[in-house]
Amino acid sequence: MMVNRLLRSNAVVQVGGIVGDGGLPRISTSFARFTSGEASLRSEPTDEKGFKGHDMLAPFTAGWQSSDLNPLVIERSEGSYVYDIKGKKYLDALAGLWCTALGGNEPRLVAAATKQLNTLPFYHSFWNRTTMPSLDLAKELIGMFTARKMGKVFFTNSGSEANDTQVKLVWYYNNALGRPNKKKFIARSKSYHGSTLISASLSGLPALHQKFDLPAAFVLHTDCPHYWRHHLPGETEEEFSTRLANNLENLIVKEGPETIAAFIAEPVMGAGGVIPPPKTYFEKVQAVVKKYDILFIADEVITAFGRLGTMFGCDRYNIHPDLVSLAKALSSAYMPVGAILVSSEISEVIYSQSNKLGTFSHGFTYSGHPVSCAVALEALKIYRERNITKHVQEISPVFQEGIKAFSGSPIIGEIRGTGLILGTEFSDNKSPNDPFPSEWGVGSIFGAECEKRGLLVRVAGDNIMMSPPLIFTQKQVDELISIYGEALNSTEKRVLELKSQAN
Ligand SMILES: Cc1ncc(COP(=O)(O)O)c(C=O)c1O
Repeated sequence: MMVNRLLRSNAVVQVGGIVGDGGLPRISTSFARFTSGEASLRSEPTDEKGFKGHDMLAPFTAGWQSSDLNPLVIERSEGSYVYDIKGKKYLDALAGLWCTALGGNEPRLVAAATKQLNTLPFYHSFWNRTTMPSLDLAKELIGMFTARKMGKVFFTNSGSEANDTQVKLVWYYNNALGRPNKKKFIARSKSYHGSTLISASLSGLPALHQKFDLPAAFVLHTDCPHYWRHHLPGETEEEFSTRLANNLENLIVKEGPETIAAFIAEPVMGAGGVIPPPKTYFEKVQAVVKKYDILFIADEVITAFGRLGTMFGCDRYNIHPDLVSLAKALSSAYMPVGAILVSSEISEVIYSQSNKLGTFSHGFTYSGHPVSCAVALEALKIYRERNITKHVQEISPVFQEGIKAFSGSPIIGEIRGTGLILGTEFSDNKSPNDPFPSEWGVGSIFGAECEKRGLLVRVAGDNIMMSPPLIFTQKQVDELISIYGEALNSTEKRVLELKSQAN
């Protein structure tokens, strides 16, 4: 079987992963295979004619993956399904990259894009020139976000650009207020905020820092709020949250509150392994940052527009942020677009400063791209018309409970999630401290078993993540649960074999 072959090839090369040949150290391909964390779910090297060795330097892909293995090439999409170039159908349990909220062929989004392309395919928003779709979308977003009254919207092309922009806005703001030393950012370990220089620095994932000379010095990381992994014996969730809030406060005091500008957090951590906040967490950390006049940035790139059963993650967890980052479901990913919501207090300071300086010198050619904004406007209209939050509230218990029913599996440490986002972490003995040997690639085995059966999930080491389209139906939830169960069964058997070989 292909998965077994992949594992066997890994298993024979466990010695001396880094090999030198007189010059710079060279990482052996096989070593990289089981340390890459994003193991390929595709088949073993094959002679089949495909696209291995293609010309793209592919994002978040190891060199050996694109040179040795044929990529999975997706050709078309339909609702919650995608089809590869051979016509094989997959249930897309990650909604692309947590983003195709309305699935793969929503005709209204296509019509909105086509109409705008036929009217005005592009005009920019620099120097007080702009377009109607960007004006309308800004107005719409300000009206929709009710956790705190927001003043202005700044458009970007992605979540990474949104978070980079957050840093520049906050620095500009503090410079305007005459607080030039208040520039540091606090983010959390295991967070994901993007992969540009600043957003990767904010992210708390080592893979985004190693070999990139990151994180930047102004970024500090505080605790990851993962109760299962980090709670002390006998500590309740509330006590855990209190301890984390105290640690945050200690960090602020140690660094000097006058140096800390902002705290950034995802309402539910996504790419770090799907980590919902422990009880009372946001209440407590908000109190701490408020006490020291530190801005709160909610990174809602994954959680906005219904994924948690509320329009925004801030509504779900009673967060009152100063700034919000949006992207992904904003256009259901049909066009690239991101946005920042800026509180009135901050936007007024930025305006008054730019009155002095003459201009607010930040922006992108495609900030407020009219086609992206037209599609986003239509997506927001559809979310409202179809009451997408109610649908998520109705469907998510079946999804959550259906998958959590597998929690008893001997190879699962924890299944966690809320709304339409869910993570599975494999570990031995139900313990966060007993990971399986990374060279076993347990997460990859499971991912490959899913893919074989027509289900696409995200694999990162031994973490599996799912965030299906928000239009997911009961039938699709049933299909997902059934494939998940079969894939788990095969993975359990393989782990037993690996264990007996190891003994
Ligand atoms: C919470 C969060 N912030 C930011 C980003 C970066 O977004 P993009 O890939 O659009 O740059 C992501 C992407 O997954 C994300 O999950």
